[in-house]
Amino acid sequence: PASLGALAARAGKDVGFATGPDLLAIAPLKAVVDAQATLVTPENVMKWQYTEPSQGHFDFSQGDALVAYAQAAGKKVYGHNLVWHSQLAPWVAGLDAAALRPAMENHVRQQAEHFKGKVVAWDVVNEAFDEDGTRRDDSPFQQKLGDGYIEDAFRTAHAADPNAKLCYNDYNIENIGAKSDAVYAMVKDFRSRGVPIDCVGFQSHLVLGGVPQDFVENLERFAALGVDVRITELDIRMATPASDGDLARQADDYRTVFADCLAVAACQGVTIWGVTDKYSWVPTTFPGQGAALVWDDDVQPKPAFEAIAGAL
Ligand code: XIL
Repeated sequence: PASLGALAARAGKDVGFATGPDLLAIAPLKAVVDAQATLVTPENVMKWQYTEPSQGHFDFSQGDALVAYAQAAGKKVYGHNLVWHSQLAPWVAGLDAAALRPAMENHVRQQAEHFKGKVVAWDVVNEAFDEDGTRRDDSPFQQKLGDGYIEDAFRTAHAADPNAKLCYNDYNIENIGAKSDAVYAMVKDFRSRGVPIDCVGFQSHLVLGGVPQDFVENLERFAALGVDVRITELDIRMATPASDGDLARQADDYRTVFADCLAVAACQGVTIWGVTDKYSWVPTTFPGQGAALVWDDDVQPKPAFEAIAGAL
């Protein structure tokens, strides 16, 4: 079968998968990543709860294992993530503002320095905005440090690893609307003031039939600010069980997303948020929905595979 990664590389784009050392121990899953990917993103192992489970005690062993796989296999690593309100170590939320700021800066510095030269990019801040474009208030960073925590994180990451591309990453920003407008305004402001931001990740956790018509237009307006863009966490979910018709429509949606990235020079590639439906995060997070990935429960390619190959 075709290699999606090899096809995309002709256009200078990545094909990535979210994965981790545990999943890569499953031979058929690893075979897909080996053959299809030019890039891997740690689905979980570089998140704060794992990398600094108690204050000042860092554990990069699982992240190192993923980097070792990628280096042996000749694939890039996309770092995910440095600052996020979710999958955060519990101790962080207990700090007051005076303690939280240096704790956040230390976390960013230590993790970015550890993986310096080993990751092509970082999601420096993940999911900071609400749907209406205001800052989400369920983040201890937002609550205690205010809006400035984001640029603080970017400046700290840049000092620690000046060569990594530094990205802001979020979901439901694929279309032009209140949320993406707010991210756009932030990026424009950062670029105008010299805050080191290089890229925006569009997670793209989509529902069947939900690829926005203005996705290319939206990617292009961000690119016009001088940043790279990337589709970072693509999956396309549906009510389960899926019918053959659903899977055909899903294939069309996958084709469209890859074609949209190809249409935008600044789009670095597409990362799919997992390999097989069997281990996708979707059914646990969205009960009654699933079948969101490109390989089925038995790690067999679904109609989306040929559709993506055709787009590349
Ligand atoms: C998800 C993982 O896929 C799950 O395994 C984990 O239990 C929860 O997080 N946005 C993100 C990702 O930025 O880190 C999330 O990944 C999915 C939503």
